[in-house]
Amino acid sequence: MEYRGYDSAGVAVLDGGGALTVERKAGRLANLEAALDTAGRSSFAGTAGMGHTRWATHGAPIDRNSHPHRDGSERVAVVHNGIIENFAALRAELEAAGVELTSDTDTETAAHLVARAYAEGDTKGDLPASVRAVCRRLEGAFTLVVTHADEPDLVVAARRSSPLVVGVGDGETFVASDVAAFIEHTRDAIELGQDQLVVISRDGCEVTDFFGEPAQGKPFTVDWDLSAAEKGGHEYFMLKEIEEQPDALANTLRGHFESGRIVLDEQRMSDQDLRDVDKVFVVACGSAYHSGLVAKYAIEHWCRLPVEVELASEFRYRDPVLDRDTLVVAVSQSGETADTLEAVRHAREQKARVLAVCNTNGAQIPRESDAVLYTHAGPEIGVASTKAFLAQIAANYLVGLALAQARGTKYPDEVAREFAELEAMPAAVHKVLSTVDQVRELGRRMSDAKAVLFLGRHVGFPVALEGALKLKELAYMHAEGFAAGELKHGPIALIEEGLPVVVVMPSPKGRAVLHAKLVSNISEIQARGARTIVIAEEGDETVRPFADELVEVPAVPTLLQPLVSTVPLQVLAAEIARSRGYDVDKPRNLAKSVTVE
Ligand code: F6R
Repeated sequence: MEYRGYDSAGVAVLDGGGALTVERKAGRLANLEAALDTAGRSSFAGTAGMGHTRWATHGAPIDRNSHPHRDGSERVAVVHNGIIENFAALRAELEAAGVELTSDTDTETAAHLVARAYAEGDTKGDLPASVRAVCRRLEGAFTLVVTHADEPDLVVAARRSSPLVVGVGDGETFVASDVAAFIEHTRDAIELGQDQLVVISRDGCEVTDFFGEPAQGKPFTVDWDLSAAEKGGHEYFMLKEIEEQPDALANTLRGHFESGRIVLDEQRMSDQDLRDVDKVFVVACGSAYHSGLVAKYAIEHWCRLPVEVELASEFRYRDPVLDRDTLVVAVSQSGETADTLEAVRHAREQKARVLAVCNTNGAQIPRESDAVLYTHAGPEIGVASTKAFLAQIAANYLVGLALAQARGTKYPDEVAREFAELEAMPAAVHKVLSTVDQVRELGRRMSDAKAVLFLGRHVGFPVALEGALKLKELAYMHAEGFAAGELKHGPIALIEEGLPVVVVMPSPKGRAVLHAKLVSNISEIQARGARTIVIAEEGDETVRPFADELVEVPAVPTLLQPLVSTVPLQVLAAEIARSRGYDVDKPRNLAKSVTVE
């Protein structure tokens, strides 16, 4: 689970004889491992236990804020993901009752509350009932896992708006945020629903709601194996995931064009609802947002519908105009990004329809949506999005084609032709991967740059934004993406001798006018001393004289160009980061799933 947070880690083990042993360490997992070695691993033997990797929300990433947290008597251990929003009030209540809190976290309040519920009142001596009672008092999003030293055969876990899956093994049961944690042991899993709690004992597991009423989790079988979640000989997951992009695209497209029609994975809205759509919003964060910016060009062109692309974190705070004929496309690799989830909820409250594009089966965002299209990129472990991003672009295009088909703005044979062009993309991306060595060598030479600018136009503009984001997050380098036409309106003042500027060129044939304008833009920046790194279509001779470095990508239809031109930018960012000695899979301050707002 390290990819979900890696600023500290901890474990708690129940030895069956009434002892609860805990070790916690700030920093990477290696620090915890060293601490376990020092303490003696045999002291961590037991039949039930828990581990946690943290991404700090409340309290700095130091030992005492690391999970698991305990109550004052050190009988209860709790790990927690999410944010307990009413923790200040709970903390004040505990302090007024004389409880001494030893961390700065919201989580610790849950440990004390469970201990108190277990010690007295209706829930006395009943751990599941104690946890339920506490969950009913908590506000916000949380996944909790709780043990009590007096109940060595029980692990209790609960969730609200934060993921929790149960792994059902042979004589062993697991709970985790993601199946990757237990795929090595079992592929049989149960996904817990909203406000559900699972009690794990020697006999298996039992699901209830927060009031103790029996409830049903959703059983499923994980359809990928351990090798998909391992590095397979690569130094970093991200490098493996970049190479997996042709497969990610092919798998995302597979099965979505049946009997001459585009089909979604789940549709809980009628075809008429799709026909009635008169406005589209794409809401997402980070790279997923950039995939939405790409989609805007295609959906407007194919469907003649206005498309607005919004950062999910802004969307619901500005009173967007939504009604039942608005389609909100929520794009999220994890399906659990808090900002996107809240945007979905806001849209549905306003009666808009929501279509989720998601890479994680059964995650919260698809569960709460009216229709779903899954990207089948497979598990993405590297924190920076690569294969999921390309798969999102492809899936967003399928959404555009489904809308065009429903609204009749494209004839069936045109839809079929567009789909066939998409189907040719895995091979095109495969070809781009042959430029990896050239780009890596370029990256090594750029590793001491102070800043890098990225320019593009039309669909190349979101690619420029994505290239800059990759470089910022992986290499901690100042990077900005601009629409090349905006250059003269300010950013050109940034150009100075030797500044690397990456330019994403449109096709000289497909977009001749834009191409000519971008060539002018490049010559303007070159004249001012910039070092130009140009991503251009094979055989684009016009741009060659203006390129200090030229990376060629295959010629593909204009709207599909982001699928090929993004790849060298991913490799560039990864290589610059590696040359600077950074961990490409785990950039500082980041986590893969941002489950807090
Ligand atoms: C960047 C990156 C992030 C995510 C963003 C949304 O490389 O990975 O910007 O794209 O946090 O995450 P999801 O798609 O899970 O909603």
